[in-house]
Amino acid sequence: MKNELVIVLDFGGQYNQLIARRVRECNVYCEVKPYTMPLEEIKALSPKGIIFTGGPNSVYDPASPHIGKEIFDLGIPILGICYGSQLMAYTLGGVVETAPVSEYGHTEVEVDNKDALFAGVSSKTVCWMSHTDYIAKAPEGFTITAHTPVCPVAAMAYPEKKWYATQFHPEVMHTKEGMTMLRNFVMDVCGCKGDWKMDSFVESTISQLREKIGQGKVLCALSGGVDSSVAAVLLSKAIGKQLTCVFVDHGLLRKNEGDEVEAVFGPEGPYELNFIRVNAQQRYYDKLKGVEEPEQKRKIIGAEFIRVFEEEAKKIGAVDFLVQGTIYPDVIESGLGQSAVIKSHHNVGGLPDVVDFKEIVEPLRMLFKDEVRKVGLELGIPEYLVYRQPFPGPGLGIRIIGEVTEEKVKIVQEADAIYREEIAKAGLDQGLGQYFAALTNMRSVGVMGDFRTYDYAIALRAVNTSDFMTADAAFLPWEVLSKVTNRIVNEVKGVNRVFYDCTGKPPATIEFE
Ligand code: XMP
Repeated sequence: MKNELVIVLDFGGQYNQLIARRVRECNVYCEVKPYTMPLEEIKALSPKGIIFTGGPNSVYDPASPHIGKEIFDLGIPILGICYGSQLMAYTLGGVVETAPVSEYGHTEVEVDNKDALFAGVSSKTVCWMSHTDYIAKAPEGFTITAHTPVCPVAAMAYPEKKWYATQFHPEVMHTKEGMTMLRNFVMDVCGCKGDWKMDSFVESTISQLREKIGQGKVLCALSGGVDSSVAAVLLSKAIGKQLTCVFVDHGLLRKNEGDEVEAVFGPEGPYELNFIRVNAQQRYYDKLKGVEEPEQKRKIIGAEFIRVFEEEAKKIGAVDFLVQGTIYPDVIESGLGQSAVIKSHHNVGGLPDVVDFKEIVEPLRMLFKDEVRKVGLELGIPEYLVYRQPFPGPGLGIRIIGEVTEEKVKIVQEADAIYREEIAKAGLDQGLGQYFAALTNMRSVGVMGDFRTYDYAIALRAVNTSDFMTADAAFLPWEVLSKVTNRIVNEVKGVNRVFYDCTGKPPATIEFE
């Protein structure tokens, strides 16, 4: 069954993914496409609606992204946002000018006309503005539906044609009633019913995987992270024992993590798959002995992962398919349109080159993270795995500053387990982007009982972030920090000091190395 589709045409704005996510929150399938997509291809997709994104340009800059008038003849509802609204005005004969006053941030917008887009929205509503140019004159046929003291056309509409435009960003949280506006557009203007549901995704993906894979052999590198876990379970439901998962325990996992992953995916777990746990801990500690330089550590851990994986793959023999847990933000970020973001991290780079396989299977390729989580829950994966926070491929190796030793791994595992336990007890775990303990390479003098100590310092980190590219240090209540500190210095041997990292990203990174 083909789902209803809304497409977001990417003009280079920063919130493009967010628009697609918000549309999917209305249970309507949405994809981001480059603004250069040929009209014929757009028509062939038969979208129920099109959204033009924002972008950093001015429509009068010849190098800025433009679009042919013909798109307006398709009879498909269009919503223009920010630059997209200016482009709509400009293309249809309106006037765009540099605003005498740029608007940035929270702005009270006055709604002049409660049309389909503003149904149920307050007459004065706080919206998020971010623009230098503005629409000075709406094109013929349009009605101005909202304004601010300095922006004469904060929104405009041509309801008979189903064209709508907002100068502000309805997709961001700061626009208080933005979700109502987007829902109005998608459901009422475009006439979508909302047929994008995760249970039907699971069902149809399983049958597509069966068809694609047939009797083939499939290999999956399972890390225990959300994406690879969900991908593995989807495949196991589709093809059972034709799937082999290789889980490499590199000895740099969080406390009990290896056993937790094995309990779910191993022979005692509920899934019918071949599970291989490779206990490569000692191998890693040997390789990392004496190595202090962060990049070198990362390279050793990555290279060793490939070697271990390759050895296992050879034992299994030629495989037909390799599973990757690629998700939609990876697809978008790898350079769709104007807004390509360079991803600074990768997990097991180079993996496909070393394994003898015919094709890659990426069952989560079109899903956002929150959708992957919903699929995980649909598939019965335990919540603690589904809601697990991101954990880097090199693991604790980059949360131990300097040389990695087995003793240091134990220290940071114990401290981190205490920290996570207390954060959860305080009910703070859902609200934080990422939090963990790291082991500094600093030893200092302390006193315990009547004895002098000369022990390590643990650093606690907690950040709020939406995209992991930038982050703010999180405010944690003092009671929680002091409880964690007390427990760590009392329960973890080798630690006599605890620090809290107050640095944002930039200038720091989230991890320590
Ligand atoms: P940084 O430290 O660069 O981290 O601010 C941003 C996010 O990426 C994660 N991270 C990694 N993830 N392999 C991964 O899979 C890596 O090598 C890696 N390094 C950092 C980090 O945990 C944070 O979520």
